[in-house]
This record gives sequence, structure tokens and C-alpha cells, in this order.
Amino acid sequence: MSASFLAAKKRSDETKEALEKDPSKFRMLTGDRPTGRLHLGHYFGSIKERVRLQNKGVQTNIIIADYQVITDRDTTEHIQDNVLNLVLDYLAAGIDPNKTMIYTHSAVPAENQLMLPFLSLVTEAELLRNPTVKSEMEASGHDLTGLLLTYPVHQACDILFCKANVVPIGKDNLPHVELTRTIARRFNKRYAKKKAVFREPMALLSDAPEIPGLDGRKMSKSYGNSIMLGATAEETAKLIKKSPTDSERRITFDPVNRPQVSALLTTAALCTGRSAQEIAEEIGDAGAGALKAYVTKSVNEFLAPHRERRAELAKDMDSIRDILHDGNKRANEIAEETLDQVRSAMGMVY
Ligand code: TRP
Repeated sequence: MSASFLAAKKRSDETKEALEKDPSKFRMLTGDRPTGRLHLGHYFGSIKERVRLQNKGVQTNIIIADYQVITDRDTTEHIQDNVLNLVLDYLAAGIDPNKTMIYTHSAVPAENQLMLPFLSLVTEAELLRNPTVKSEMEASGHDLTGLLLTYPVHQACDILFCKANVVPIGKDNLPHVELTRTIARRFNKRYAKKKAVFREPMALLSDAPEIPGLDGRKMSKSYGNSIMLGATAEETAKLIKKSPTDSERRITFDPVNRPQVSALLTTAALCTGRSAQEIAEEIGDAGAGALKAYVTKSVNEFLAPHRERRAELAKDMDSIRDILHDGNKRANEIAEETLDQVRSAMGMVY
């Protein structure tokens, strides 16, 4: 593990402690790319913690990163549908729009304008070094676009425009938060020596266990191995039924040698709050059929209240749009104020 990762992990642990003591000192910003529906991995990996922090009194902000969709794909097909469905899932999961600002990139021009001064603060070499950008480029099978190369700077705009000081993320987003810290520091040093405009945000590294897809591989929409929060109970049952297992009858929890059976056990464990080992022992020689029946029941029972709330909310899509408009309006006010400070620090006031 690199020294910079260990330093970030230490900062993250210290920040978590401080946050539990005095949540009101923290402004959190995190977000999602609207590339599809949210699944159980998103829920256990981040949404659940966002709701907890929101309810603890942390000022919470969620960006729906629509411009980030076109970093590695060449269509914006279904974007509106994806965005509105994200809002539905947030609200059904307990995000309260009175406490949490939800907004989209494309509706906040002043946020996007921060990109210009910020780009002047980073070098080509720094951008090319970003390991997440590299792996995303390889996974996409596309050439490196200007936007993919520079989106970590755009993510810095997301974080800095509202002066967030905590950013809950997975490990893959850590290089972007590190870059954000660098940009904040360099901006202050170059343009705002007398009075700092930005503060350096802290990454909060998720310690939720990574939940594998039903087939034991990484949970991903393209593998068809993810349980969507908004799927029906029948769709969920069907998906679990066709997930692959192995030829050994006795159920044991062994993620290394039996990734598929273990993924099913992990899924049931998260949804029931029990341990995977305990569930494995209980099912024992009853085999994969019994395991799948148990997983289906656990998941569907766990998601039933979410799905009910979601369906209720979906009856009134105008209200969902209003919530987004309201978030966008507030985000614009904040972004304008920050951009004014930036222009003023740079002497660009005419
Ligand atoms: N890159 C993040 C992801 O893929 C989404 C995101 C966009 C984000 N802007 C952000 C996360 C700002 C944290 C802060 O999940």
C-alpha cells in the first residue's frame, strides 16, 4: 500500500471520529454517475451511509454527475430517465430533500466555469498519471478523450464549488479527491494569498464490504449480475434463480474457492444482518436450491419497504422534477457565490 493511501486512510479515520463528535462542522458532497439504476452494491456501499450522515446533522449534498456520463461513452440516451430514477431511489432510501441538496452538473453553469482556472493549476503529466482514468480508459475500449483525461478536475469543481470538507468515496475515487486537495492548495497559493478561497476536503473511505455480483464477479450492470433496488420481487427471484453455483452440494462460505455460492451468502448476510457463515451452516446439505430460496426471501423482504416507497413516489413525477429544480436552484446560488470569490481573487472583476 502506498504512503499516500495510508495517509489518506489515516485522515479518513480521524475525520470519521471528528464527524461522529460534531456532525454540524461538516459539509459532505458525494455523487453518482447517472448511467443506470442503483443496485444493492450502491445501497450498502454508499447510500445507506449518506442517509445516516444526513440524519446525524451533516450538511449533505449529492451531485448527479451527468457530464461524467460522457467521459467514457458516446451517447446520452436515457439520461433523463436515469437521472429521475436516481432521485427516486435516493428518496426511497431516506434521502430527505429538505436536508440534502440534489443537483445535476449540466444545470449549474458557474460550477462548470470553475474548470477553467482549475485546469491551469494541473499539469498534463499529473492528469496522465491518474490510475483511475487509466483503468477507465482501458475498460471503455475507447481512445482517451479530453473529458476523460480532465474529469478528475471537473470532480474537483463538484467538491469545491460548495466548499465541502468531506467526500465519502470508494478507493477508486481517491486520486480525484487527492487532486482536489492539490487544486485547492494551489489556487489559494497562486491567487488567494491574503484570504484563502478553498479548503482542502477530506476523503471518507467507505468501509462497507464490497458486495459481489450474484455470479461472484464484480457487481456490474454489464454482467447482468446486480440486484436493482427498484426491480420487482419477481425479477429479483428470476435473477437469483439463474445465478450460477457449483457442483458441490454442501453450502459453505469460501469466497476464494467458491465465489458464486459465497456471493449469494454475502448478499443474504447483508440483507438479514446475519453472518454468511451462520447462514451457510444452517443451509448445509440442503444445497444451492435452498440457498437461492433463502437469498430471494432475504433480498425481497429487505427491499420491500424501499420498493413500496419508490412506487408511491413514482406516481408523482412532477414532484420529483420539482425536487431536482429546487436542488439545482440552490446549487446555482452557491456556485455563483463561489465563482464571484474566484473571479475576485483573480482580479477579474469588471
Ligand atoms: N466519480 C464518482 C463515481 O463514479 C461520481 C462523482 C462525481 C463524485 N462527482 C463526484 C463522487 C464528487 C464524489 C464527489 O462514483
